[in-house]
Amino acid sequence: MRFFHQPALLDEAISSLGCRAGGIYIDGTVGGGGHAYEILKASSPDGFLIGIDADDEALHAAAERLRPFRERVRLARGNFAAMGDILKDLNIDHVDGILLDLGVSSHQLDSAVRGFSFAKEALLDMRMDTRQEFNARRLVNDWPASELARILREYGEEPRAERIARAIVAARRDKAITSTTELADIIVAALPGRGAARRIHPATRAFQALRIAVNDELCNLDRALRTGMDLLKSGGRFAVISYHSLEDRLVKTVFRDFAGVCVCPPGMPVCRCRREVKARPVRRRPLMTTAAETAANPRSRGARLRAVERI
Ligand SMILES: C[S@@+](CC[C@H](N)C(=O)[O-])C[C@H]1O[C@@H](n2cnc3c(N)ncnc32)[C@H](O)[C@@H]1O
Repeated sequence: MRFFHQPALLDEAISSLGCRAGGIYIDGTVGGGGHAYEILKASSPDGFLIGIDADDEALHAAAERLRPFRERVRLARGNFAAMGDILKDLNIDHVDGILLDLGVSSHQLDSAVRGFSFAKEALLDMRMDTRQEFNARRLVNDWPASELARILREYGEEPRAERIARAIVAARRDKAITSTTELADIIVAALPGRGAARRIHPATRAFQALRIAVNDELCNLDRALRTGMDLLKSGGRFAVISYHSLEDRLVKTVFRDFAGVCVCPPGMPVCRCRREVKARPVRRRPLMTTAAETAANPRSRGARLRAVERI
């Protein structure tokens, strides 16, 4: 299957990074190389890019796409949370910009064998990095109902988390749940009701929750934001594109933390938290996709870009 992914908020990401000739950039989610290609163009003739992805297929696609830039690119397979170690291996101390374009690529969603989508019959899997042992089958078949309900609630913001967790546990008593569509059917049966009036498929939230848990997405994002900030030169920029409210809330909170926003209780006459100011926001509000972009690229719907500049 040919790799396809249409990058979201492309111009906005490049302008937020303030790319310049000679700059060193990390694309921590290089995917098919769409954003990376534009970073390299905008930092011509000698900007350098380190492209990281957990997914081997993405790295192959990126290598092909970025071939024209030759020695200006290094690609590394790994988790963006480990970007500090990846830079160390390349003998680079600091960089001018970091981009994270979170979540899954269209290729991962559309490729049935990766087991991310409830719309495609496949083994339940959902690993971004196929070297990882833990996958969605293990989660769904081994975790206790209380833990299943917790992740459905916390990561899927699923109001009927307990009901779905109970249905999963009941179904797996008869036989292990192994396929995407089997799980989707269990969820649909557990949520009687509104049929055609439903705005989204009933398994949407649960599948998002499982994917986040399998890949430990929020912990990795938190680590990447904090590690990345310490890798930026003064004046360097950190830009993050998120696709759901959990990610965006975390990015907003950590970026506020970098900006040293006071967290003293209201009414305190003098600030006592004295937080270190590491960065300032590039803009007051996040950039969002326009109606024209979502019409042309429906998967960019809900994307938000936040950026900060290292002081
Ligand atoms: C939305 S796509 C990025 C697309 C890319 N910006 C482009 O223009 O083609 C997200 C990519 O990030 C990767 N990814 C997600 N979480 C990751 C992590 N913690 N570490 C490394 N790669 C990750 C996924 O494998 C996927 O290829």
